[in-house]
Amino acid sequence: MNYLNKKTIEDIDVAGKKVLVRCDFNVPLADGVITDDKRIRESIRTIQYLVDHGAAVILCSHLGRPKDEESKKACTLAPVAKRLGELMGREVQFTTDIIGDEAHAKAAALKSGEILVIENVRFFKEETKNDPEFAKALASLADIYVNDAFGTAHRAHASTAGVADYLPAVCGYLIQKEITIMGGALADPKRPFVAILGGAKVSDKIGVITNLIDKVDTLIIGGAMAYTFSLAKGGAVGDSKVEEDKVDLAKEILDKAAAKGIKFLLPLDTVAADAFDPNANIKLFEAGTIEDGWQGLDIGPKTQELFADAVKNAGTVVWNGPMGVSEWDRFAAGTIAVAKAIAESNAISIIGGGDSAAAIEKLGFADKMTHISTGGGASLEFLEGLELPGIACLNDKD
Ligand code: 3PG
Repeated sequence: MNYLNKKTIEDIDVAGKKVLVRCDFNVPLADGVITDDKRIRESIRTIQYLVDHGAAVILCSHLGRPKDEESKKACTLAPVAKRLGELMGREVQFTTDIIGDEAHAKAAALKSGEILVIENVRFFKEETKNDPEFAKALASLADIYVNDAFGTAHRAHASTAGVADYLPAVCGYLIQKEITIMGGALADPKRPFVAILGGAKVSDKIGVITNLIDKVDTLIIGGAMAYTFSLAKGGAVGDSKVEEDKVDLAKEILDKAAAKGIKFLLPLDTVAADAFDPNANIKLFEAGTIEDGWQGLDIGPKTQELFADAVKNAGTVVWNGPMGVSEWDRFAAGTIAVAKAIAESNAISIIGGGDSAAAIEKLGFADKMTHISTGGGASLEFLEGLELPGIACLNDKD
């Protein structure tokens, strides 16, 4: 999917206009305190541009998946508005209203350069249903719509897509960056193009594998997914996590990779444990020889070297999914080795959101990467080549 022709905030005159910006303020909270404000910080460039260019800025977002009155209390955007004000060093107004009289009055009174955050759009069930009336009501707060919520761009909701039916609709800097770097790499990658896919299930990554197998020079498979491939090759996987019903699919993928002549790298060795426990006993096995009673939880040292070697001379690397149970220190070495190899390479490096992004941040390699996506599910769907409704709905350049 190529969105490089979408209009951005720089293609539209925002001076003196009310601009509704859909952000992804879905931040982690513990007892009402924001524990990671990355998504708020990432939204500032767009907001600052709009403020500097004379727009009155109305911000909306979801937070969590509130279902009832009790869960709504824990999902208010009030702490986000406060934190945004602190980070920007300016007043950020907040209303507990969304499309009612108070929200309209506050939006109408908002002057150029002022910022208002409205309450969590998911407090209305119409939001996730992409209800046209709700979208229209949201749109009536503003003159222009800006979507900058890449993390939610795979959702066809009222505030991410529906609202674009009623207003001029452009993307902010965050979405622009994601589509330029990720879209650019997929459309015209600097070669060799290496994709590293990890995580637990083949079924979660099948769409990405199918899309990337036609584009890459090397496909690397790590994580528990590799044991399903090992089984497909007739290997012994012991008690490792496998998807028996995906073994035929794994065989088909192996055949396709062979027919295309791409390098398809699977682990050579495995760090296995005698229980799914951070303190379990550990034993190293050659791939395909894992004994019963043992389950693979990380790639072994030979595999680390093989994967690092493939990354060394890459032109482009896309990485999504850890190589093992990286949240446990004793099974994190494979993920660390891959992160280090990418950091040391000269490749254009793109890290899909979620666990691999978290691993890179935790290891302090973030500034060595070309791009770390702010979307977990969204970046996965982008890599799968699926349409992202939150971007598809935006206006094209003339
Ligand atoms: C995310 O955190 O992945 C996005 O904010 C989307 O959230 P959702 O899965 O609740 O739609």
